[in-house]
Amino acid sequence: MNFDLTEEQLYVKQAARDFAQNECKPGVIERDRDMTPPVELVKKMGELGFMGMMTDSKYGGGGMDAMSYVLAMEEISKVDSSCSVAMSVNNSLVCYGLEEFGTEEQKQKYLKPLASGEIVGAFCLSEPEAGSDATSQQTTAIDKGDHYLVNGTKNWITNGKQASVYLVIAQTDKEKGHRGINALIVERGMDGFVVGAKEDKLGIRASDTHTLMFNDVKVPKENRIGEEGFGFKFAMKTLGGGRIGIAAQALGIAAGAYELALEYSKVRKAFGKEISKHQAIAFKLADMATEIEAARLLVYKAAWLKDNGMDYSTASAMAKVFASEVAMKTTVEAVQVHGGYGYVKEYHVERLMRDAKITQIYEGTSEVQRIVISRAILK
Ligand code: CAA
Repeated sequence: MNFDLTEEQLYVKQAARDFAQNECKPGVIERDRDMTPPVELVKKMGELGFMGMMTDSKYGGGGMDAMSYVLAMEEISKVDSSCSVAMSVNNSLVCYGLEEFGTEEQKQKYLKPLASGEIVGAFCLSEPEAGSDATSQQTTAIDKGDHYLVNGTKNWITNGKQASVYLVIAQTDKEKGHRGINALIVERGMDGFVVGAKEDKLGIRASDTHTLMFNDVKVPKENRIGEEGFGFKFAMKTLGGGRIGIAAQALGIAAGAYELALEYSKVRKAFGKEISKHQAIAFKLADMATEIEAARLLVYKAAWLKDNGMDYSTASAMAKVFASEVAMKTTVEAVQVHGGYGYVKEYHVERLMRDAKITQIYEGTSEVQRIVISRAILK
């Protein structure tokens, strides 16, 4: 087994770290407080090549491996998960979905500007009553010959306002269940498409999360991704890779909180010595480091499987469920290590603790990951 990173991977990791520490960190507390979407930072991530990292360079992407993507996600999530979720959705749901399943025409028209970071995309699956139970889509896409007529509401959509292109999952034939669902490309300016309310969230507060409404939106047939009825499988296959990105985000949140706790424990003194010299704190740090390393190995393994063309759906679910639980636990402990300072915004760890929670919810709750894993091991 070789755990060494290549020179290129190390370079990407460092570039992402520099971007996160130098550009995301200043203002992260204020953006969180005011729920200000990091529009300029997302633009900058596009210019730096972080928005279409794994997409082939012939479609404007970086042509990198999943491992490099995971390393960049980890570094940016250590500081600002509102930035990294925009990056994650664009890379592993939108760009991947279009590159893998889109037509050449769709790739030229939509993938190129998305992967090169000129525009941002959104992935629209969740609904008021279809979160974990994703087959119960209420949004309809009625076949009208040369187009689909789309009606319905989508909830909690990342990049909801900032996006120009939306991949929308909708039911065309209810009788056919999941085989009657389609994935459609909706453009921002289409008549009847409305960006609704912004969500006021516990964590990732700066992330651009909105409700979207579709009122008789005419989507041309050529905007369907894959064959008629492929929409649910499209969503599942795409989410398999997306979960590696969110697992990397959870890993980054955990590692970010750990780095802060470690640093603080070496300077803060109590009872006559640095708190890191008290076993109560040293053991906490030891547990954090061990659990983060275990999460990292699962995340890297899932990325490695993807890079080697192997099935990664169970591995990505394992990585996500484990890393998100480590993120939650580690951030709570990091607040504890900081004591009273951990409870105020200036020290960053309370934000990381709030941000950690979403990693157990989006791109499939921890319960959904356990459904995926248990079905794989019991089949
Ligand atoms: N690849 C290919 N096909 C798959 C698949 C996969 N990974 N998973 C399922 N399928 C296929 C099945 O084979 C089956 O097809 P056949 O009937 O032809 O065999 C079909 O899809 C239906 O599968 P299931 O019976 O397993 O479906 P289910 O209704 O039991 O649901 C589930 C399974 C895993 C719970 C699924 O509904 C799910 O993943 N739910 C969570 C949805 C989710 O992750 N939402 C996140 C929204 S996106 C987001 O959060 C982005 C963001 O903003 C950050």
